[in-house]
Amino acid sequence: MRVFCILPAAGIGTRMAAGGATPVAPKQFLTIAGTPILVHSLRAFAAVPRVEKIIVAVRATEMERVAAQVAEFGLTEKVVVVTGGDHRQESVSHALAALDCAEDDVVLVHDAVRPLIDSATIERTIDAVVKHGAAIVGLPAVDTIKQVERTADGAIITSTIPRERVVQAQTPQGALCGLMRKAFAEAEADGFAGTDEASLLERAGVQVAVVAGSARNFKVTQPGDLELAEFYFDVMSKTLAGAK
Ligand code: C5P
Repeated sequence: MRVFCILPAAGIGTRMAAGGATPVAPKQFLTIAGTPILVHSLRAFAAVPRVEKIIVAVRATEMERVAAQVAEFGLTEKVVVVTGGDHRQESVSHALAALDCAEDDVVLVHDAVRPLIDSATIERTIDAVVKHGAAIVGLPAVDTIKQVERTADGAIITSTIPRERVVQAQTPQGALCGLMRKAFAEAEADGFAGTDEASLLERAGVQVAVVAGSARNFKVTQPGDLELAEFYFDVMSKTLAGAK
């Protein structure tokens, strides 16, 4: 059994630019603690010995820049760069097509813009995929969750979802390669568009297990998120320095 990882990194970061006067670089290329966000994410997976290859999907116009970064940060041995698509699902699909995996190999998908993923969580997700066939990292809900209906006057609550029945889906999200390919093929055949892999696996009838995530593994999405990620990296480097 081999383990592969796909990093969709072809987004254009519209939410990061929202409200700002000037357009910003796609968030996966912004720098935190002196290193591009994408490189932090690649490093996290490259550091896990069981991960054999990482396929990163980027816009055609970014191929050169990413290939140069992969070389600069010494990641060429494990990382392959492919062209992404117009939606996250399409980017993952392109990477899956480029992946030479057997039915029972493990494939994990991780948002390139979650740079604070840690080795232990990656390892636990791999183990859960091996055990259950498919698994994602999820964060138990701490807030009370409301279902709403959007109206012209704003949102109106229609019900309360018991929070013990809710997790917030993070990444990595993984499955045995055969199941992941089947889920993507069925979604494509039906014209289904999902925002994560689990939604495709669920509709393909695959049971997906949940591994406990942490708030630290957040998706860098809005402007303030950069400062928060910077803070976490600062704390981590001080903790490492203190341990020496
Ligand atoms: O913004 P969003 O939540 O969709 O981004 C999640 C991940 O999907 C990001 O790493 C982003 O770069 C990636 N993505 C992609 N191709 C797209 C859109 C998003 O690889 N067309």
